[in-house]
Amino acid sequence: MVEKIVTIQHLQKIYGKKNENEHMALKDVSFEVDKGDFVGIMGPSGSGKTTLLNILATLDTATKGSISITGQDLSMLDTNGLAEFRSQKLGFIFQHFNLLDNLSIYENIALPLSLQNESSVAIRTKVEQIAKTLGITRILNSYPNEVSGGQQQRAAAARALVHQPDLLLGDEPTGALDSKNAQSLLESMKALNEEALVTILLVTHDAFSASYCKRILFIKDGLLFKEILRTGTRQEFYKEILSVLEEYSMAE
Ligand SMILES: Nc1ncnc2c1ncn2[C@@H]1O[C@H](COP(=O)(O)OP(=O)(O)O)[C@@H](O)[C@H]1O
Ligand SMILES: [Mg+2]
Repeated sequence: MVEKIVTIQHLQKIYGKKNENEHMALKDVSFEVDKGDFVGIMGPSGSGKTTLLNILATLDTATKGSISITGQDLSMLDTNGLAEFRSQKLGFIFQHFNLLDNLSIYENIALPLSLQNESSVAIRTKVEQIAKTLGITRILNSYPNEVSGGQQQRAAAARALVHQPDLLLGDEPTGALDSKNAQSLLESMKALNEEALVTILLVTHDAFSASYCKRILFIKDGLLFKEILRTGTRQEFYKEILSVLEEYSMAE
């Protein structure tokens, strides 16, 4: 049986107080993600993508509905439980790399493990392994401001993955990269998904990034309204994504 990594049912998110600046960012969102999937969430600005990702990331809570990750119902966890769950099961890559300038690339990547009291030998093995996968072995002793934006983002990806999370979440992770660096990050994510079976959920408004996914869910006004699966080549999928964006006037 396929392992479910994410199960979301009838998720609703209302910002603001009742009758006062109330805004329903998510209306009724349901979907599942299997282990080994690589799912893209696409939609226009303001459609609820970041809201959805923040709830999945346990950084925000839903107003209604249920969400479980690796079988754990998030509503059953208190603040400490959520923090522990997040640090063990989830990895994040954001648009801005959020690396700490005063730590070397090695120290940045090792940070999640250092916080979990792993031995320094175990930490070194894991950091070197993920650095190799992402092609950044040469820069481990450098500082963030000494390397390119693309290398910084791959270092951020390595930090997100070093503790072998069950789910990698990305919110526009290529948003601040030029096209060459974006492509190399996406190739690394694809390799992680195919070879290490890392389950990935990626929010993006960019069709090129989305074309690396196996499946795309489209969101508009807080509702999922369409899903497409990749069946052919990445180039064919890219064209299909562009035509959906055009059909629903979401092209930017
Ligand atoms: N903290 C907040 N308080 C009030 N409204 C918010 C907040 N965050 C987002 N929103 C609103 O919720 C809607 C969805 O936002 P968001 O999830 O950021 O969309 P996206 O990431 O797709 O651009 C938008 O209308 C936005 O203005
Ligand atoms: Mg957003």
